This record gives sequence, C-alpha cells and structure tokens, in this order.
Amino acid sequence: MNDAIIRVRDLSKHFGDKIAVNKISLTVNQKDIFGFLGPNGSGKTTTIRMLCGLLTPDHGEGTCLGYDIRSQSSLIKREVGYMTQRFSFYEDLTIRENLSFVARIYGMRDARSAVDHAIGGLGLGDRQHQLAGALSGGWKQRLALAACMLHRPRLLLLDEPTAGVDPQARRDFWDEIHGLAAQGVTVLVSTHYMDEAERCNRLAYISKGHLLAQGSPEELVGAAGLHTWVVEGPDMPELAHQVRAIPAAQHVVLFGNSLHVSGTDGDALEEALSRFRRNPTYTFQRGQTSLEDVFIHLMHQGVPS
Ligand SMILES: Nc1ncnc2c1ncn2[C@@H]1O[C@H](COP(=O)(O)OP(=O)(O)OP(=O)(O)O)[C@@H](O)[C@H]1O
Ligand SMILES: [Mg+2]
Repeated sequence: MNDAIIRVRDLSKHFGDKIAVNKISLTVNQKDIFGFLGPNGSGKTTTIRMLCGLLTPDHGEGTCLGYDIRSQSSLIKREVGYMTQRFSFYEDLTIRENLSFVARIYGMRDARSAVDHAIGGLGLGDRQHQLAGALSGGWKQRLALAACMLHRPRLLLLDEPTAGVDPQARRDFWDEIHGLAAQGVTVLVSTHYMDEAERCNRLAYISKGHLLAQGSPEELVGAAGLHTWVVEGPDMPELAHQVRAIPAAQHVVLFGNSLHVSGTDGDALEEALSRFRRNPTYTFQRGQTSLEDVFIHLMHQGVPS
C-alpha cells in the first residue's frame, strides 16, 4: 500500500501530567476526504499539529507525505496546507496583502501570479483591496482556504474550517473541498458538524485522546451495531420520558415530532417497546442509524482502560 499520504502509529502527547493524545494510529490514503471528529478537548488539534510537524510527539512514529514526522518536519510544513482553527490573518491588511504575505512566507517565485490566480478563483477581484477584517465569516474561511492552497500542497489539514459559518457558506466551502479532492488533493478535516461528516469518505472518531473508531461512514454505522426505531405520535416529550426508563433504549432523541430510540440489544429494545406499540396513536418504524447516533454512542461508551 504505497498510496498512504499519512501513516502514523501510536502517537502520544502529554501537556504536563495530562495526556492530550493517547496512542493514536491513523492511515489517510491519497484523495481521501478524511473527517476527524470528537468532542471539545478530545485531541484533534493536537493530533493535526503532530501530523504537520508543528508539534513533536512524546511517543509514536510515522510519515506524512512520505516524510518522517519527527525528523523531517520542515519538509512536511512546506508541502502541507494547514488551516488553523482560528482565523489567523491580518485583519488590517487587505485580501491581496494577506495572500502576498503568505506567498512570501513560502518563498514562492511566482508569487504574484499565484495570488492573482487565488483572487480570481475566489471571485474576489473587485474586493481584493478590502481589509480582510471586513469580510463575513464565510468569506474569511474561503480566504483562509485559498491562502493554504497558494503553494499547491498535496495535502490539506483543515481544523474546523467552517465553525460558525452559515449553512450555504458551509456548502460552498465543501464544494471547493470536493473540487480539490477531485484534482488529487488529500484532505484531513476536523469538524463537529454531522452533515460534513457525511460528506467524507473516511472518518475517525477520537475521545479523550483515544481513537475509538476509524473507517468509512457505512463501516462506522455497521460497527456500532445500533438498532434504531423512529416513533411518531402525540406528546413526544412524555413518551421520551417513559422510553428513557428502558435500559435497552440507550439513546432517546427528539427530532421535531418524532422520537429516535436506539440501542445495541435489538431484541431487548423491541421487546421493551412492544407495550408502547400496542397504543395505536403511535407509529413505530425501524429507522436508519445516523452517524450522530454512532458518535454519541461512542462518546457514552467511554475510552478503553
Ligand atoms: N499547548 C497546550 N498546553 C496545555 N494543554 C493543552 C495545549 N494544547 C492542548 N491542550 C490540552 O489538550 C487537550 C486536547 O486539546 P485539543 O486542542 O487537541 O482538542 P480538540 O479536540 O482540538 O478540541 P476542540 O474541539 O475544542 O478544538 C485538551 O485538554 C487541551 O486543554
Ligand atoms: Mg481543536
């Protein structure tokens, strides 16, 4: 398997006596759009920083773009596009000035044409002399993406690139990601949004520094082994209250007028729900287990001891 763009084993990182990342192994293949999910503080940013050579792991080893993450970090940094979790451009410089600055950091010879190309690609020709600080949240993110693509990296590491951005702007952003992937760019992206997770071809879920699951969305849903029922009818909050008392109903979530109930013991769940099913005011249907159900399930399962 030569097409692994990232292959790391047992990466760990401590801050003081706190373990931020605990023996994480990841493989990201060429052209993957690899989604990295997990609760706040679970170690996503720390992992991304180790992958691109900004942080040295305490333990573990591996390669990124074929370079050793410990000894060849300067080569990795040159070939990776890294979009940090917070907007890291100069708000009091214009769009063009910011991009030119980035191009100079990378020592690009054809900086001017790369910046022209980026501004054209963004459709920001008219606004290139506007201050970056005056852009809306969605445009700031697109500027940041254009900036980290300036030096034409083969790998993009995007850390929550669409946090706080409206749904249309997030869609536009993801269309760009898919466009880049189609051109052969590999993308690792952290996100808290389930609709974004569904747009990835591979996913990893991390909790408290431990990698709890890795695979395609379908594999993750299958591996969780959850059985899901969707209930509709009157007074869902009251039904939810009663269903939550059932041990086999591990996850009970209200969605508008319907209730999603899931658990790993399908027979016990069906049996326990049968007394509610006798009430004709409710309709019960087997439902599709969603990625959100799977991630919440993984989070509640806790980390291996
Ligand atoms: N430079 C640092 N010094 C001390 N502790 C740190 C440092 N960076 C991260 N941590 C701690 O390591 C843990 C993992 O943090 P990290 O930022 O990697 O999580 P995250 O998954 O990116 O969270 P979020 O979703 O909120 O961005 C947290 O407990 C955090 O407080
Ligand atoms: Mg983070």
